[in-house]
Amino acid sequence: MKTYRDIAGDGGSDIAGQVVEQTRRLSVRLSSIQHAVAVMSGKGGVGKSAVSVNLAVALAAAGCRVGLLDADINGPSVAKMTGVHGQRPTILPEGVVPVSGPAGLKVMSMDLFLASDDSPVEWQGPSSEAYVWRQTMEMTAVREFLSDTLWGDLDYLVLDLPPGTDRLPNLSGLLPKLDGCVAVTLPSEISQFVVQKSIQAARTPGVRLLGLIENMSGYLCPGCQGLQPLFPSGRVEALAARQGIPYLGRIPFDPRFSEAMDRGCPVVLGKPDSPVSAAFISIAASLRNILAHRTSPPPSSHRGVSS
Ligand SMILES: Nc1ncnc2c1ncn2[C@@H]1O[C@H](COP(=O)(O)OP(=O)(O)O)[C@@H](O)[C@H]1O
Ligand SMILES: [Mg+2]
Repeated sequence: MKTYRDIAGDGGSDIAGQVVEQTRRLSVRLSSIQHAVAVMSGKGGVGKSAVSVNLAVALAAAGCRVGLLDADINGPSVAKMTGVHGQRPTILPEGVVPVSGPAGLKVMSMDLFLASDDSPVEWQGPSSEAYVWRQTMEMTAVREFLSDTLWGDLDYLVLDLPPGTDRLPNLSGLLPKLDGCVAVTLPSEISQFVVQKSIQAARTPGVRLLGLIENMSGYLCPGCQGLQPLFPSGRVEALAARQGIPYLGRIPFDPRFSEAMDRGCPVVLGKPDSPVSAAFISIAASLRNILAHRTSPPPSSHRGVSS
């Protein structure tokens, strides 16, 4: 069996031609998208997907045309959180029609193509250099999702990134139209330790750090409705100030929010008056404002749910 090292030229596959064609399709598809924003963290389990979903729904509920791309190819969760898990996108000769989610959100995720609930995404590749190989395949899959999806006219495309500090730099190479990224962190020192690395890694030319979101800030008691301390407060605002990026707001930990996500019911629609919804609506409004203006608001401004 030949490896890529044994093949002279492109082995007759016209790889160069395929890349040129895909790059052309990518720029055509993205030309109808006003703003592309990635949600990143570096750390897993901090709420990137929950934040991506609820921010996208908050924007859609405000009347914007919004697409949501699950760029976490190996651990896709956006389809389940938006309640479209089990649906299949329609495949047309000119591209793939994204699935319609809450508030008219256009959703695309690897999950929508998997055979069953427990099917993992499997990659064929050599066992040596497997990590690099897999990352290349993941990025290729994201590029295909971007270029083959019939997004139509969008005001915002939200991209939910997988964990890993190098995700944003990889994505920005692939998506020149990326307006910027928002980072999500827990108030814990461990989370911030990792998140600040991804903030540094994201400082690449042309990518704006649109802001930092504090998730699981305080515990919202379902009984008394009071906000109990969960972590020491003020640390994430201090991190945003140190990094010179806007502090977009804080979202409390609410067990009902997590249950709603499990059921595929974004709280912004299901419980628009809850403190979690208020936080997302406020953060979405700040983000729109930042994207609409060239200059960012002063770092570390106080928004979201007050503790
Ligand atoms: N503020 C919150 N309150 C309650 N549960 C939350 C909150 N943020 C996230 N979760 C839950 O925590 C889990 C991990 O969140 P997820 O968005 O999947 O993290 P990530 O994408 O960063 O790995 C999910 O079950 C999600 O519903
Ligand atoms: Mg996720």
